[in-house]
Amino acid sequence: MSVAIPPPESVRGMKILDKEQFKLTESIPAIRLRPQLVSKYLKKLQDKLLRQPGVKHVQNCSKGDKLLLLTPSSVGGTPLSAGLVEEVAFDGGVVIDHQLTLEYHHWTMPHILKAVLPVDTREIPSSFETIGHIAHLNLPSELTEYKNLIGQVLLDNNPQIRTVVNKTNSIDETFRFFKMEVLAGDDDLMATMKENGCQFTFDYSKVYWNSRLATEHRALVGLFHPGDIVLDVFAGVGPFSLPAAKKGCIVHANDLNPAAFHSLQSNAEINKLPIQCYNMDGRDFIRKMATDVMCNPSQQKPIHIIMNLPASAVEFLDVFHSLTIQSRPTIHCYHFSKAEDAKKDTVDVVNKTLGVTLADGSFTIHQVRDVAPKKLMVRISFELPLLILPHQQQQKQIVGPTDDTPSSKRSKLDQS
Ligand SMILES: C[S@@+](CC[C@H](N)C(=O)[O-])C[C@H]1O[C@@H](n2cnc3c(N)ncnc32)[C@H](O)[C@@H]1O
Repeated sequence: MSVAIPPPESVRGMKILDKEQFKLTESIPAIRLRPQLVSKYLKKLQDKLLRQPGVKHVQNCSKGDKLLLLTPSSVGGTPLSAGLVEEVAFDGGVVIDHQLTLEYHHWTMPHILKAVLPVDTREIPSSFETIGHIAHLNLPSELTEYKNLIGQVLLDNNPQIRTVVNKTNSIDETFRFFKMEVLAGDDDLMATMKENGCQFTFDYSKVYWNSRLATEHRALVGLFHPGDIVLDVFAGVGPFSLPAAKKGCIVHANDLNPAAFHSLQSNAEINKLPIQCYNMDGRDFIRKMATDVMCNPSQQKPIHIIMNLPASAVEFLDVFHSLTIQSRPTIHCYHFSKAEDAKKDTVDVVNKTLGVTLADGSFTIHQVRDVAPKKLMVRISFELPLLILPHQQQQKQIVGPTDDTPSSKRSKLDQS
């Protein structure tokens, strides 16, 4: 929104928010006239009216008159033409100088930060991610001195936010959650939010959560059918597992992070979903599922294995070399690729770990999102090649879907 009058220049460089310093009295042009004429002049003066958050451009005045506030020329307003001034006078009105007092709450976050932060600031913080009542900023180091002021301004301008955090530069290497500091508001990092029809509660400072994956969570669960078996190896607090269970899939969900595991369990309970939860290393979980689920000869339902740990999930595929299983699961494995050809890179690393070559047409690749410049998050989905299983191994050769795979076990994959 365009703003007519900026905060006073004296707030530039402020590091501790002092709202009093924003008080400003400015002389602006205004037209005083009888109430019956307001609509006529509102139409005529559309482009000249003052546009200031929290200030009405039509104000009451003494003796029942109205005042139309106009943009002062000091901030780009165009003076009234002599003809217009005459017309106002003819209508019994008058053009006056009006003393307008503005305070901190008359500006929005971008206006305040633009006035406070150094003129050469490369990017004025304006967008942020929300996780329930928490706003999550990722401030560049050049703004470190201003971080608490920025947090407070964000809080003041967004009534739905109670806590503002800043991502510090590091990520927990194993459990993938961001280290963060509270900049303003309540020191309460227990977030509650909805995604894909399910409610999630978790301690944002202890577990992984990324609202930008909501579409991917929905897209993958969209490929499953009621009754399918879903094994979520790196489940986090359950954004794949809960909607899958809600859809009628039989879900086993695992995470090594105890905090994620506890939230997963309580989220399943809160949403009244019968999910089996595990707190194990991913390889151990897959081995356990090989015995408990994938070895059952009467198991005819399609099995999906979700592996969303893009920094290293592919490495976990080596576990399949040592498994004896009856079923042929479909694996949905995520991968970060920095290669020019992310699709080729993803297939290459999967082939290398599996020790086979997935044939063209036996897998699908889906580009999930840009994580950083030249770094893509990719999903590869494929049926586990029979030849990598020890009891099936004869000689390594080109592997593709086999004619003997029951069609009931084939999943419908997206073709992107
Ligand atoms: C990128 S997060 C994905 C979480 C969730 N699936 C989602 O989409 O939001 C990866 C998860 O893997 C878990 N994790 C990391 N190493 C693991 C391991 N060796 N075994 C099992 N879980 C692990 C982390 O705790 C984290 O919750």
